Amino acid sequence: MGVSGVGKTTIGSQLAQRLAVPFFDADDFHSASNVNKMSKGIALTDIDREPWLESLAHHIVSWSEKGAVLACSALKQTYRDRLVRNIAKKQIAQKIQFVFLKASQSFIRKRLMSRTNHFFNPALLSSQFDILEPPQDAIVIDAQEDIASILQQIQAKLLVTQHIGLIGLGVMGKSLARNFANKNIALSLYNRHLPNKEEQVAQRFIDAYPELADVQGFDHMPSFINSLPKPRMLFLMVAAGAVTDVVLDALIPHLDKGDIVIDGGNAHFQDSARRSKALDKRGIHFFGVGVSGGEQGALYGPAIMPGGALDAYPQIQPIMEAIAAKDAKGKPCCHFVGKGGAGHFVKMIHNGIEYAEMQLITEVYNLLRFHKNMSLDAIANLFEDWNKTHLKSYLLEITVPILRKREAGVPLIDLILDTAAQKGTGSWSTTAALALGQPFDTIASAVMARHISAQKIVRISAQTQYDIAKAHLDTLDVDTLKMAYHCGRLINHAIGFETIKSASRSYQWHSNLSSIAHTWTNGCIIRSQLMEELVGIFDKDAMTHLLLQPTVVAQVKQLYPAFAKAVSEGLKAHASIPTLSAALNYFNGFTTANSSAHLIQAQRDFFGAHTYKRVDKEGNFHTDWTNTEAS
Ligand code: 6PG
Repeated sequence: MGVSGVGKTTIGSQLAQRLAVPFFDADDFHSASNVNKMSKGIALTDIDREPWLESLAHHIVSWSEKGAVLACSALKQTYRDRLVRNIAKKQIAQKIQFVFLKASQSFIRKRLMSRTNHFFNPALLSSQFDILEPPQDAIVIDAQEDIASILQQIQAKLLVTQHIGLIGLGVMGKSLARNFANKNIALSLYNRHLPNKEEQVAQRFIDAYPELADVQGFDHMPSFINSLPKPRMLFLMVAAGAVTDVVLDALIPHLDKGDIVIDGGNAHFQDSARRSKALDKRGIHFFGVGVSGGEQGALYGPAIMPGGALDAYPQIQPIMEAIAAKDAKGKPCCHFVGKGGAGHFVKMIHNGIEYAEMQLITEVYNLLRFHKNMSLDAIANLFEDWNKTHLKSYLLEITVPILRKREAGVPLIDLILDTAAQKGTGSWSTTAALALGQPFDTIASAVMARHISAQKIVRISAQTQYDIAKAHLDTLDVDTLKMAYHCGRLINHAIGFETIKSASRSYQWHSNLSSIAHTWTNGCIIRSQLMEELVGIFDKDAMTHLLLQPTVVAQVKQLYPAFAKAVSEGLKAHASIPTLSAALNYFNGFTTANSSAHLIQAQRDFFGAHTYKRVDKEGNFHTDWTNTEAS
């Protein structure tokens, strides 16, 4: 509701689309005589309006079953009362929610005057403001904001009507359940029943948190499903891989066409693509959704990367946006990334970037601590300072208290076994990049660094046998290292985003790099100042490689000498710095127009007659290489 020109039709129709309900415009329900009057510029009286309001009230009853959005000025309280009267009389439980789009007269005047080919009568507008009686019980929205934010605000306020079923109450599932409940989203929780191991998990969890007082807990699948209104919305938070398939197999027989399944686990993107296809055949909408931010993120707002059934996305969008982290302006860090397995692919690349970002910090720490003999406190102080600059990131931030942590006076870091574990997403991302033919140097090297760290026994033996002293690095100052770290991060992000671009092209996801960077500005593990800068860079130009974007070129030109120096000095000092050096190697290859790869082609042709292309003529060539003279 609201005055003419406030945006009722635009907002109403888009809201209806998002809610997957029909849209109606009250103007279409006027009688022929009313239309005739209005077309002559004669204002309608309340007597003229009566049959029109009566007809709308009648339709509202029929729409109430499935829901609808109606755009109607409804300026006076008596009109609004008339609209809801039939619903109230018939004691229909469904609620009518008025959404009042509010804007100043001058704002609307300006908007109407700028509309070309639009008849605008200023007297009519001020008469609308004269009779407007602002409602007491409506959702009031500032209609002067942009459409996306208006829609998001309305949907967030309508959330109370949503009901979601969450399956799996591990660490992440529990945090997400509390997050849903804190956003007033109705919840049913399910956790399997394993005698003597997992018994009444849902009910015991509900009992432990007051915010879950209205939540229903189940360990019996059919009762759980029956507690959900149709179309049902199910959120899976179970272990990736075979467990997810087992849960889906148990779930699917209970589902109907139009139901929605959202997998928020760390699934492999090809599994999500497969599940998406299989459920689609049954008319069930499937979403593979990347969720990043760990336990705290899940509770207070994770970064969310939804992929899957685009047509049904408007149905889950309000819920996803409600629980997602918000950026500095309050916009949700949640954007649809593409069909099939796109959401989990993007989450996988997030983790790949995360692996390399962690490794870069670890290598800088390695050089500072073991080659420059800086104390843990000095390194913590230095990182704390860096984190106040453009290098600010969540991962750098958490490293500071890690380095300061003591246990009985002993630095805890020195009590931690130096073998890095992994659950697989780094390796998956590397394999996926290889399949796409994408260079993935930084991330692949970070995965390999974890592999070599895991070979502790071999490392001990190798150090004893080779006994190579770690040289002291007097010649490398901390500012040079800071620039190298900065450059390494730019290259790592370029590699990650190029891989998403390549996958999006191959799988026709039409992913938006700027939106993905925006999703990663808060809530997730790789949130950083750099990520915020990338939103704007990709918004202007997402086609050009990040390292060829003018602002980045200017930065890298400045950083490169320090970067090259840090890597070469580090290697000379026998430091293990695989990701810094992989980044430099990538960059050196990337900036070489005429490379040595012609020799590879010649060798391939020599032993396998694989043929080669030439720079001086078109075609494929094979040579008899045993004669030194070309034939
Ligand atoms: C996140 C994290 C999360 C998980 C990592 C850890 O975005 O919230 O990435 O998904 O903690 O995947 O992965 P590893 O165990 O492989 O280091």
